[in-house]
Amino acid sequence: MKVVHSIEALRDQLRGQLRVAFVPTMGNLHAAHLSLMRLARQHGDPVVASIFVNRLQFGPNEDFDRYPRTLQDDIAKLEGERDVYVLFAPDERELYPEPQNFRIQPGQALGQILEGAFRPDFFMGVSTVVLKLFSCVQPRVAVFGKKDYQQLMVVRAMCRQFQLPVEILAHETVRDADGLALSSRNRYLSAAERAEAPYLYGLLQQVRDTLRAGPSDLAVVEAGAMQSLQARGWAPDYVAVRRQRDLQAPSQDEIQAGEPLVVLTAARLGGTRLIDNLEFTAV
Ligand code: PAJ
Repeated sequence: MKVVHSIEALRDQLRGQLRVAFVPTMGNLHAAHLSLMRLARQHGDPVVASIFVNRLQFGPNEDFDRYPRTLQDDIAKLEGERDVYVLFAPDERELYPEPQNFRIQPGQALGQILEGAFRPDFFMGVSTVVLKLFSCVQPRVAVFGKKDYQQLMVVRAMCRQFQLPVEILAHETVRDADGLALSSRNRYLSAAERAEAPYLYGLLQQVRDTLRAGPSDLAVVEAGAMQSLQARGWAPDYVAVRRQRDLQAPSQDEIQAGEPLVVLTAARLGGTRLIDNLEFTAV
């Protein structure tokens, strides 16, 4: 695997390649990231991964400074899997040589709901850096995880609306045996918190099962789920049942007609904010 830090060296490596498959990450790689690389391998060649902790997508009180940076370990993991041909690991001066005044705004309906309501500039930061990375790598396909469901939808919408010639592939959420979705932020959890953390996925399954059991008021189900989290010491931001296609609230008729749904949640456990989601239909 070639490790390149500059855009110029990246372009040298990729000259003439028309089937590049790309997996952007912020590093601290775990099994889910490696699985995304494998999916990329099945849909393109060469596979390019990037590692860049993107300041633009972190809020002022978020964990940018303490986000785990483990480049040497990450390189070893990628080398071990042999799926990736080039790793692009720019520093901030390389990707942001001047203040980033041109920024992409995903728009109210998708960018300011759910995660966007609690992290106002998050999807601006994500879309702006993904557009920049696409411009450096010029991939034909790019792989994103469903764990970050709204991010995947924002990136898809950006590609559609800017006519970017990039096909976005979705990878299923990778979980530990107890159900907890893998995340770089899981390492912030204490042993007791780690034992409690799988409750979040269990709760999403409960919401799904409740809606499958018969018609019920969504607002009541969502509020009940928030209360169960609070009762166990979590601080939930939201539990929301939405349509898969646009993340808007489904009507009762749509739910009963088998509209594809997704229940999404974000909640803090101690100092760690976890997100998760589950796709389902009620009938
Ligand atoms: P990061 O959190 O490093 O995630 C990189 C990719 O791995 C994303 O597409 C994410 O959805 C996916 N991923 C992480 N954990 C996963 C899991 N348990 N199952 C499936 N996929 C998982 O997401 C980002 O970085 C950044 O926002 C980025 C897109 C790189 C832009 O900075």
